[in-house]
Amino acid sequence: MSGVFSGEPHIVLENVWKTFESGSVAVRNLSLEVYCGETLVLIGPSGCGKTTTLRLVNRLVEPTKGRILFDGENTLDMNPDRLRQRMGYVIQGIGLFPHMSVEDNVAVVPRLKKMPRQAVKETVARCLELVGLPVQAWGKRWPRELSGGQRQRVGVARALAGDPEVILMDEPFGALDPLTREVLQDELLALRERLGKTIVFVTHDIHEAMKMGDRVAVMKGGELVQVGEPLALLSRPADNFVADFVGADNHLAMFSFVKVKDVPPRTENLPVVGEGATFGEALDLAERTGIQYGRRRFVYVVDATGRVLGYADIEGFRARNDPVRAAVKPAPSVAPESSVHDALLRMVENGVINLLVLDDNRRMKGLLTFGDLNRLIENQRRGEGCTLKP
Ligand SMILES: Nc1ncnc2c1ncn2[C@@H]1O[C@H](COP(=O)(O)OP(=O)(O)O)[C@@H](O)[C@H]1O
Ligand SMILES: [Mg+2]
Repeated sequence: MSGVFSGEPHIVLENVWKTFESGSVAVRNLSLEVYCGETLVLIGPSGCGKTTTLRLVNRLVEPTKGRILFDGENTLDMNPDRLRQRMGYVIQGIGLFPHMSVEDNVAVVPRLKKMPRQAVKETVARCLELVGLPVQAWGKRWPRELSGGQRQRVGVARALAGDPEVILMDEPFGALDPLTREVLQDELLALRERLGKTIVFVTHDIHEAMKMGDRVAVMKGGELVQVGEPLALLSRPADNFVADFVGADNHLAMFSFVKVKDVPPRTENLPVVGEGATFGEALDLAERTGIQYGRRRFVYVVDATGRVLGYADIEGFRARNDPVRAAVKPAPSVAPESSVHDALLRMVENGVINLLVLDDNRRMKGLLTFGDLNRLIENQRRGEGCTLKP
């Protein structure tokens, strides 16, 4: 996503300080921009000021010093209720009104906005649908009848129902078991693609931060230590605190943050033939491209529309004129969005050192080799980053 978010910032914090009456300084001279449509993750240890920063944005907390701009306007000059209607707020666990049905919970902001009855109904149905809880089945239930994951989904639906420009999320999945958490993260990523909202997401889980964030802001003791894209934090941590926090010297951890498409997979000189090719043609091509499995040479076979059918081992064929098609076997593959960690697992599980990178339509996006992963670790070790330069 690099470079996409270079337009006008949606939210700007300018030298913001927050000192509570108790004297505790929760936020120190924080300057940060959140761009339109990006997901910015705030991360740091407990007590470092993440929640306070989020609440400063929707004015549940007001700055002691400094300014916060929303769409170019100082939030202190805005009506706080109107401001909060423009910003959905999702918090951990306790977010729902227990005495209201699921649909009434989701209808809260549309009703506050005095939306006509029919429009409220449609909005509630649409938002519950978006989070996978159709209103017919779930609308009349009570929050206590739902699982933790379902409650968080309703929380997200409620935040979306006001059609906010921004969604603020404070450890929204923090109380969920790891599996449910993973599912909800994926759902939020998919929703985000569809809705294009600006999201500020607080977490203390670095894995979640790297997965969800277009950019990640690391905080410590009320201060911003570093903000950047996940890979930038890994390859150029500002100090030891960030390096330790993101695990920059832990290659396996790094592998779970780096996506296959960011490596990037190789796309040139691949041994790919059409399904009509002969073994003779396949052999010539394999010799030119030089990618092999041990001493065994192989080609990938695609159909007329470019979809990958599998691979064909071309050792020990009988006649140059035989079609490769008859020898095609399924080839292990990985999606461009998968982590390098998952790709490595797949290699190990399948006993292969080359992995096809395929999109949803089984079209080839390249080839990831074990050698590439080795070079990735070498680059990382030498401080040259976690991608492969051409
Ligand atoms: N309402 C408050 N009154 C006094 N101190 C507070 C208040 N809210 C937060 N703090 C203090 O500010 C610091 C940052 O808190 P918080 O923003 O909740 O951190 P985080 O969300 O990163 O765990 C902590 O030391 C906390 O005790
Ligand atoms: Mg907090």
